[in-house]
Order: sequence, then structure tokens, then C-alpha cells
Amino acid sequence: MSLQVDHLCKHYPTRSGALSVLRDVNLTLGPGEALVVMGPSGSGKSTLLHILGTLDTPTSGNVRLGGKDPFTLPERELADFRNRHVGFVFQDHHLLPQCSVLENVLIPTLAGSRDGQAESWARELLQRVGLSDRLDHRPAELSGGERQRVAIARALIRRPLLLLADEPTGNLDRRTAQGIGELLLAVYRQTNSILVVVTHSAELARQFPRRMEMADGTLQPEGARDEGRETRDEERITSLAPPPSSLAPPEKGAP
Ligand SMILES: Nc1ncnc2c1ncn2[C@@H]1O[C@H](COP(=O)(O)OP(=O)(O)OP(=O)(O)O)[C@@H](O)[C@H]1O
Ligand SMILES: [Mg+2]
Repeated sequence: MSLQVDHLCKHYPTRSGALSVLRDVNLTLGPGEALVVMGPSGSGKSTLLHILGTLDTPTSGNVRLGGKDPFTLPERELADFRNRHVGFVFQDHHLLPQCSVLENVLIPTLAGSRDGQAESWARELLQRVGLSDRLDHRPAELSGGERQRVAIARALIRRPLLLLADEPTGNLDRRTAQGIGELLLAVYRQTNSILVVVTHSAELARQFPRRMEMADGTLQPEGARDEGRETRDEERITSLAPPPSSLAPPEKGAP
């Protein structure tokens, strides 16, 4: 499957008017290609990933998966397409609290025909993310990083053609994070799929051959904005800092 994004825009209606998050995103990825997307918090990375995964709709522009616009499909077919071909690791997991670890990983396989091998693949994935001894735990009985690893196993269970991972190593220690990066890369290579990973981790990003950055509502090759970046970062941090007056020690004689 190929992925083609042309002039993608996303505006959110808000109480103070339309908020323009994606202004003009263009991207082409073929089978067997992987991309890491970095960029500041709030720059639109999750928004882009949700649209690529057909979980949200663009305001304008085109997304084509396998040459077709998925948003023209009737809702039921779109849900079926998504379940079959898209693996999504959400920034906040979305595990079902009443199901065990093993059941959570198997959920995407329940709608389709049973192939009998799903459970052994689920067990293998859980073993590869280091959770073989947690199969019967409920999500509430896991650590944050363990929940994240369950979500990764669940995203891989159907060997999706499009694998989208939003901060997949956000809660993990360095070593586990590296293992997760390697697992994502290994599975996507085995299945010749497309992999798009959003991350703030420079270490995870280094494992990927192609890196881009979300900035000003567009996607640009990493480093393209380096010029002037220091000034912008300074501006950003200054704007987050409390006004200097609130940091100053109270004047002598003040109550
Ligand atoms: N449903 C919504 N309605 C209005 N604004 C939204 C909505 N969802 C997201 N936003 C805004 O869009 C911007 C981009 O959000 P998004 O979640 O894509 O950022 P991000 O790059 O993933 O950030 P982070 O690195 O913190 O996860 C944010 O400023 C956010 O406040
Ligand atoms: Mg995000």
C-alpha cells in the first residue's frame, strides 16, 4: 500500500474561531518506507497521525491510501479497512480496562475470520515486548510503560500495511525504548508496510533513516528550519516563563 498526502489542512473550530493546525502537509511513502516525525508539543503531530489513520477527517486536501481516498468509503467499509490495514499506537493507549493483556492484543482480530494463529502471534508479540508474565493482568494492574507495550503489540497483531505510532516510547526506560524501536522496525520490514512514528525522543528518531519535522503546520525535512531556531525556542520558553516581576524578590518593606 502507498500513502500520498497532498495539501492537507486541518482546522479545528474553537470558541475563539478556527484554529489552523495543519496548513499544507505533503508526503509520499511507499511500501517498506519508514518515517519519523518530530516537532514541538502542540505542532499537530497527533492530528496528522489521526488523519493518516482515518480516525479524523481533513478540512481540505487529499489523503490517498493504496491510490484511493479512504474518506469516500461508507463508514462501515472505512471501519473495516482501518481494522484490517491500519495499526495505531495511541499516545494514551486506549486499552479496554475489563480485558486482560492477551485479550487486549487480540481485539483487532475478533471482527475478522479467526485464523487460529492469532493467539500464538499475540503471545509472541507480548513476549517480544517483554510481557509474557503479564498475560492475565488487567490494564489497571500494569505500569504505564507496560500498558504502552500492550498497545504496541495490539497495533502489530494484524501485521498492518500502515503502522502509525504516536510517542510509542514516551513512558519507557532507554533500554526498553530501544527494544521497542527495533521491534517496530523489524515488523514493518517483515511485512513491507509503511511505518510513521511520532516522537520527542532523539534516540528513537536516530533508529530511522528518514526524519521530518512538523512546524508551522507543515512537514519539512529535519534540520530545514535550523536557521533561526534558537531565537524561536527562546521566544517559546520566554512566553512560558512567568513575568520577571513575579520572580523578583519582594521589595524591602513589602508585606
Ligand atoms: N479537538 C480539538 N479541538 C480544538 N483544538 C484541538 C483539538 N485537538 C487538538 N487541538 C489543538 O491542535 C494542536 C495540535 O494538537 P496535537 O495533539 O496534534 O499536537 P502534538 O504535536 O501531537 O503535541 P504533543 O507533542 O504534545 O502530543 C494543539 O494546539 C491542540 O490544542
Ligand atoms: Mg501528540
